[in-house]
Amino acid sequence: MKRVSANKSREALPSIILGTMRIEGMKEAEVENLLENAIENGTNFVDTANCYGEKEGGVESLLGKTFRKYPGLRDKIVLQSKGGITFYPDGRPFHNYSKEHLLRTLDASLERLGTDHLDYFLLHRSDPLFRPEEIAEAFEIMKESGKVLHFGVSNEVPTGIELMQKYCSVPIEVNQMQFSIVHADMCVQPVATNNHDFYAVDRDGGILNYCRLKEIQLQAWSPFQYGFIDGVFIDNPKYEKVNAAMEKVAERHGVSKTTIAVAWILRHPADMQVVCGTTKTERFKECCKACDVELSYEDWYEIYLAAGYPIM
Ligand SMILES: NC(=O)c1ccc[n+]([C@@H]2O[C@H](COP(=O)([O-])OP(=O)(O)OC[C@H]3O[C@@H](n4cnc5c(N)ncnc54)[C@H](OP(=O)(O)O)[C@@H]3O)[C@@H](O)[C@H]2O)c1
Repeated sequence: MKRVSANKSREALPSIILGTMRIEGMKEAEVENLLENAIENGTNFVDTANCYGEKEGGVESLLGKTFRKYPGLRDKIVLQSKGGITFYPDGRPFHNYSKEHLLRTLDASLERLGTDHLDYFLLHRSDPLFRPEEIAEAFEIMKESGKVLHFGVSNEVPTGIELMQKYCSVPIEVNQMQFSIVHADMCVQPVATNNHDFYAVDRDGGILNYCRLKEIQLQAWSPFQYGFIDGVFIDNPKYEKVNAAMEKVAERHGVSKTTIAVAWILRHPADMQVVCGTTKTERFKECCKACDVELSYEDWYEIYLAAGYPIM
């Protein structure tokens, strides 16, 4: 397993993260098997969120039940959860980054997960009503109480992070962003800058290079999905050219297209972690295999060009 660290003074983390958004419906023994399989393949980093599941807390509760059933399992894991997305009673979501809400949501997550701390706590998706002073206070209380060891954000822009960090004494160490072969805007935009092209529009404030500059660990979510988790692009006829290019590169390296989809992300020098959401142990193994594949410039651009991204 490759290990990465955006900030060399911090501990290096496994490049592959097991995402749990889709595990609801699995039995505890199957979840345990998925987690142990990840550990056997070199990664103990697990991502979840309060909002995953049919109802708020569904996935966290399943993880908690699994940890209770298999004593010692929780302690083998670097556990990351997210908060800040909440729901009306009728199920409509909204965002809430207020101090009281964040403290409450963390306690509820810990209760469900049956643990006294999270290794990482991320703010899930920006709340337009956020006050950075309140986030700072909440993070400091969480840190001092030992309930959270590390902090981060998700889907956040540079100015949002700057604003939070201006007040916050604890560092924002992580930013989890959607990123894949077919959703690579944050790395494509600088290539198209000054053009009238679709990709010339800066939609994220230059977040990729900002995170590199500030040594914030990027995590790429939904590495196999197109749109907003609309479906898988691998072997999808809508993505014929990309699949043909991936097939060619996969053959060259003697691996599957699934492995290549992860290797393409890992090849980027931002050293992102990749959050893989498969519920299948064999497929997760293929994801981890990407750590042993080093794509050449030619390989990487073959896929980039097939995805229709601009060059000049
Ligand atoms: N921060 C955020 O806003 C955010 C948003 C969404 C997700 N996430 C995190 O990112 C993780 C991954 O997200 P995701 O599950 O949407 O993305 P994903 O890893 O891109 O997709 C996984 C899904 O694709 C299916 N799949 C079908 N063919 C596949 C193939 N050849 N290779 C790999 N997967 C294939 C998997 O099915 P099988 O299970 O049958 O393999 C699974 O349902 C989540 O679990 C969550 O932790 C974060």
